[in-house]
Amino acid sequence: MSQNSQSAEEILGSQIYAENVEFWNRAWSPVKTAYTQMPDLPYISPMINELAAHSPANVLDLGCGSGWLSILLARNGFEVTGVDVAEQAINLAKDWAQQESHTIDFQVKDMAKLEFSPNTFESCVANSIFEHFPIELTCNIFKQLKTIMAPNAVFIGCFDKVGTGPGEYYKLNDETHVYTDKGRKGMLLRCYSDDELKKIMSDAGFDITQMQTYESGTRYIVAIRKGDS
Ligand SMILES: C[S@@+](CC[C@H](N)C(=O)[O-])C[C@H]1O[C@@H](n2cnc3c(N)ncnc32)[C@H](O)[C@@H]1O
Repeated sequence: MSQNSQSAEEILGSQIYAENVEFWNRAWSPVKTAYTQMPDLPYISPMINELAAHSPANVLDLGCGSGWLSILLARNGFEVTGVDVAEQAINLAKDWAQQESHTIDFQVKDMAKLEFSPNTFESCVANSIFEHFPIELTCNIFKQLKTIMAPNAVFIGCFDKVGTGPGEYYKLNDETHVYTDKGRKGMLLRCYSDDELKKIMSDAGFDITQMQTYESGTRYIVAIRKGDS
């Protein structure tokens, strides 16, 4: 089964997308406490150091889940806004921030509809999240980031190699997997090639300054939002 190419607006209004959002809410709803151990990922120190070098006034954490990266950034002195589409993820993140007395602006928000004012953020991080969007939506999100990030703001994203494991799914025309098995029904997963990531960011108005592939296949990318308005 496949379906014709759709615009970002059409995808956002589709049943497939609604079921994807339902999947994330279903996945988070039984989780009653945030998993507060920081993951051991090789690009976390480089990410913190890179952000520190830019001294941004604030950081937007896209698809923040229950908040580990936002909390880590707050521990390092950054002013953080974290957004996630799943209400329970944000509840857990808020509890965790409160336990550590951090003031973090956690919001239940669909990152495909980033309704922030122009030039709001001086930096943005995104860990293991863009794999969950069809390519049209990823392009559209980067266009929105161009607007809501300030000129010369830094974007740091980690993009996993995904979609090679077991599971039942069908594919959309752009190769996005739409899962149908019970555990992941509705989840979207798409593996982005290096060239696709470069083109998406460049077309949206970002200059890639670093791209590194880790052993796991994860691509760590630093990009600067171009300086024009
Ligand atoms: C693989 S997890 C990664 C979470 C976190 N960034 C991390 O590194 O652990 C994907 C996260 O993205 C969130 N998510 C999925 N679709 C989203 C959307 N459209 N808008 C905002 N968050 C979304 C999910 O709820 C989930 O918390």
